Amino acid sequence: MALCLLPISVFALPRPIPASAAPDISGAPAPGESFTLQSHAPDTQVLILGGGVAGIIAARKLAAEGITNFLIVEARDELGGRMRSATFGAPKRQLTVEVGANWIHGTQEHDGPANPMFELALKHNIKTTESHLHTSITTYDANGAVDYLDLVHDAMDAYTQLTIVAGARLSENLVDLTARAGYALVGQKPKTLHEMASEYYSFDYTYAQTPEQSSFLASAWNSNFTYEVDQGGFSDEDLLSIDQRGIKYLIQAEAAEFLKQSQVRLQATVATIGYSDSGVSVTLTDGTKLTAQYAICTFSVGVLQNDDVQFSPPLPEWKVEAIHSLTMATYTKIFIQFPQKFWFDTEVALYADRERGRYPLWMSLDLDGFMPGSGVIVATVTGDFSKRIEAMTDARVQSEVMGVLQTMFPRVSIPEPTAFFFQRWFSDPLYRGSYSTWPASFIPQHLINLGASLGNLWFAGEATSEKYFGYLHGAYFEGEAAASQIVQCIKDQQRHPQPPILYAQNTYPYNL
Ligand SMILES: Cc1cc2nc3c(=O)[nH]c(=O)nc-3n(C[C@H](O)[C@H](O)[C@H](O)COP(=O)(O)OP(=O)(O)OC[C@H]3O[C@@H](n4cnc5c(N)ncnc54)[C@H](O)[C@@H]3O)c2cc1C
Ligand SMILES: *[C@@H]1O[C@H](CO)[C@@H](O)[C@H](O)[C@H]1NC(C)=O
Repeated sequence: MALCLLPISVFALPRPIPASAAPDISGAPAPGESFTLQSHAPDTQVLILGGGVAGIIAARKLAAEGITNFLIVEARDELGGRMRSATFGAPKRQLTVEVGANWIHGTQEHDGPANPMFELALKHNIKTTESHLHTSITTYDANGAVDYLDLVHDAMDAYTQLTIVAGARLSENLVDLTARAGYALVGQKPKTLHEMASEYYSFDYTYAQTPEQSSFLASAWNSNFTYEVDQGGFSDEDLLSIDQRGIKYLIQAEAAEFLKQSQVRLQATVATIGYSDSGVSVTLTDGTKLTAQYAICTFSVGVLQNDDVQFSPPLPEWKVEAIHSLTMATYTKIFIQFPQKFWFDTEVALYADRERGRYPLWMSLDLDGFMPGSGVIVATVTGDFSKRIEAMTDARVQSEVMGVLQTMFPRVSIPEPTAFFFQRWFSDPLYRGSYSTWPASFIPQHLINLGASLGNLWFAGEATSEKYFGYLHGAYFEGEAAASQIVQCIKDQQRHPQPPILYAQNTYPYNL
């Protein structure tokens, strides 16, 4: 079989990265040069809008089925989407860090089901290390180091209880509630700062929203289907990429195996999408018009919620309702580099501030098996706190972060950071957040409508995944599924997708 092997750089145009050395641009085409379209041809069979995991895997599926007249349209200068790395650090102490996805959550147990991202990581030799997020923890509060690990473990047990009670409710077809209500049902009502920080770690750190803002049932099955082997999950292992090519290398290398240059258009931002039962037409911000028989829109639900792209005709009410029935949450990693390490020797530290969610989680990269000698520590904030810091200057955020570190390490004279960076996902019109999550209450009709096609326009991405929303592997399965449906349509010359549910109704009436 003749594979079209291209250098990876073909799919990543050089771009300036903060605090970085000039990237290697040798051999890479200049913007607009090699990417001016042959595929301008008005009869592209399938347009793939977005070059993240869902878009690339959709393209791979089409290619595997012999459909090669497709075009990936991507606003950025490289493929990968929310798999995104940056060069970080002071001159001569730079390293590649992941500002987007960093972990493969759930791998494979024996010959059970494998996380497809794990398989791609193995295939492309991504350098990973196992995270011990449940066991390698140090705890702090406003008085410095204080041991409340027992409470951290209690919170993890409470979370497990939450998933068990959620399972029982699912099998009885009971309505969804907030995860806060779920915690109440299992008798967990965190009150102290230590209890709240512990709960944050076992809940918000994953969903990037508080239990009050989150679905009880959907969050529980989301966790099970990834981690619980007896529920069809992959494994309870978390692999952290420490690959200096960036974790995105795994999807770019995969793309390089089948994708031709003429099948990708980078630095092309979609402004409008017109759809009908006979085709799709797309206008780019530079005025270019692209037409196709079918299209798959893989933009984040945050993009759809914020009207960053205009639809013609305007989206029907059932689609608007579905798009707004889930939340685009924000998860922010704040990278800080110091001349040398002065902190804990565990993988993470939990800090219980007086305000729940204020710089609560710290991950050390300066560890054997991670990035020893890097001097890098990563603070994580989520949800509303992420939005808060995105509205602040870097200098303000840095000064708050330094204040928290001084509180955690009262006896250390903390040096000035040599580098500081965080990605503003919420403000970015190409994302509008980090990943989706369901608020209370999850309504099955909304999920069906979110993924339902409009004429010849399909929707796919992490958000349309019922089991794995929020995850890389969710995006993978959804991209593949949408492409398979389009292949069916092309081969059978007819439509097969699941129709929308025009009215999501209660089974029990309002008795007003
Ligand atoms: C900070 C962060 C941490 C995360 N951590 C993890 C993790 O550790 N493990 C994990 O499994 N998942 C993680 N995720 C989630 C994971 O990254 C996503 O679920 C997945 O990458 C989504 O893929 P996708 O193809 O659905 O969407 P995307 O990757 O968003 O792809 C859509 C593409 O569309 C492009 N686009 C948007 N608007 C336009 C437009 N108007 N015109 C043209 N192109 C456009 C975007 O640039 C993007 O490339 C994390 C995400 C973030 C942000
Ligand atoms: C989650 O997994 C647990 C343990 O296997 C199970 O008891 C529970 O019913 C599951 N819950 C959901 C929501 O799937």
